[in-house]
Parts: sequence; C-alpha cells; structure tokens
Amino acid sequence: MPGVTLDGRRMSAEIRQELSLRITALSEKDIVPTLAGIIVGDDAGSASYVRLKEKAAAEVGLRSEMSRLPQDFTQKDLLTRIADLNDRDDIHGIFVQLPLPKQFDEERILAAVSPSKDVDGFHPQNVGRAWLGQEAFVPATPAAIMETLRRAGYHDLRNLHAVVVNADNLVGKPIASCLCQPNVGATVTLCDPDAPDLQSLTRQADILVVSVNRPGFITADMVKDGVIAFDFGSNYVDDSAATQGYRLVGDIDFAAVIEKAAAVTPVPGGLGPMTITMLLAHTVAVAERQSATG
Ligand code: GUN
Repeated sequence: MPGVTLDGRRMSAEIRQELSLRITALSEKDIVPTLAGIIVGDDAGSASYVRLKEKAAAEVGLRSEMSRLPQDFTQKDLLTRIADLNDRDDIHGIFVQLPLPKQFDEERILAAVSPSKDVDGFHPQNVGRAWLGQEAFVPATPAAIMETLRRAGYHDLRNLHAVVVNADNLVGKPIASCLCQPNVGATVTLCDPDAPDLQSLTRQADILVVSVNRPGFITADMVKDGVIAFDFGSNYVDDSAATQGYRLVGDIDFAAVIEKAAAVTPVPGGLGPMTITMLLAHTVAVAERQSATG
C-alpha cells in the first residue's frame, strides 16, 4: 500500500486559521503583528518567494512591509536600513532574503538583524542557542519539518535515524540541530550529496530530508520501506503537457518512493507552504511576547 502524502497546503491552511485567531486577539490590544522583509536585486526566484510570503501574510491578517532594493545597493545602506527596522516597536519580525548580491558580506548582514526579531533564525546567537537546546528562533525550514511531523502524528522520534542530504546553513545544519536535541532523541546523519555510496546512508533513514535541487535524485532503491521523507527540492523541468511548458518537481522521485514510504511531502504543496507558514507563526510569536511584556 502506498504511503501518505503529507499535504503541506492542508496543514498550512489549518495553522493559518489558528494564526488568524491569534492575530485577532492581538488586534484587541492594538498590536498588529508586522513582518519586514528585505530583498536586494532582481533574482527572479527570490522575488517570487518574497511575493508568496507577502501574500500569505496578508491572508492571515499580518501586516508586511517589504523593502525591494536595487542590485547596486550598498552594504552600509543595508546595515542602516536593518538598524532602523530593529529600532521600530511596530516591526516584530525581520528577514533578509538570500542570496544577497556579491557586494554584501552575508554573515555581517545576518548578524545585524536583532536576535529578538530574527524570525528566520539565521543570527549566530539564535543558531548557537538552538544548538545548545535553548529557546531560540529556528529557521522556517526545520520548523516546517518538526511541525509536519507533529501534525502527522509522529510524536516520538526516539530510536529513529534521520538522514539529511544537505549540510548547509539554511537546511541541513538547522534540521540536524532540531532533531538531535535530547528531548527529541533522533540519531542524525548529515550527508554531502556527493558522498561516496550515499545510498548506503539514505537506505538507513527512518526520516529522510533532501535538499539538493536535482530532480529525481532520490530513487526508490535509495530508501527503505516505511521511510518518512521530506523534500525541499525546487526544480523546474520541461513538460510539453504543462501550459507554461515546464513544471515544478522536487528531489525525490515521488511516484516511486511513495510506494515504499510511510509518508512523503510532495513538491509542490509540501514543505513550501509550510515553510512560509512557520515564518508567519514566528512573527506572531514575537508580537505575543511584546503584548505579554507590555
Ligand atoms: N533563501 C532561500 N530560503 C530562504 C529562507 O528561508 N529565508 C531567507 N531569508 N532567504 C532564503
């Protein structure tokens, strides 16, 4: 019997409804949770991702303020812009869309965002606190996986082996940081996508996370029966049957892997919507904190 498709659109709709109620409760205290986003340059993929964040924010009743800055914007001016947003009480969450154009020192920019408004969880203070198991923002990507697991009924991850095919700062490392905490208790293997004999590692996975942007990279013979698989891949492939001539696919050969798996996130409609929902949830949490502390 094929596994369950982990429907990120349905889960997101549920969470967004819950967020709308929390936002209404905040509005009764005259607080409008506000997400500030910064995008520099003209990368089409980033622009489209930011539009999705903006649309999702509006749908739940969250205010957003996007700064769309020119490709030749300077590091000094960007640091000033971030400092202004840090200082404003009416801004609860701040994100800087990555990648930034080459003239920027990305580490310096991410470290300039106030850790208390860093809803993307990229500030070194949040990264360090999360590793130490302290309260911190974690990036929306691992938050999306942890929330999907919870909502799909996977509450006990002890004794499960999570294999993560990606070891970067946006996906692999933060997911490992969440899954390896003692209160979660999974065993985690972080893999380079080009590791020799990757298949011998992925075949051990009870939980498999993949983010390599290579269509169909994970085939059915690379997974074991009953795997719970998460696909962060985003690949456009030619498809003459599609109206635009192309379609979006993930890194997992979904049709084949779902036959062996317990559950798989589809692309599109899996972790994409959930990731955006987690960013909104983090922003609402900051506003609630502000409301509680007056
Ligand atoms: N670029 C790709 N993914 C992300 C993300 O989750 N946040 C930001 N800020 N930039 C990204």
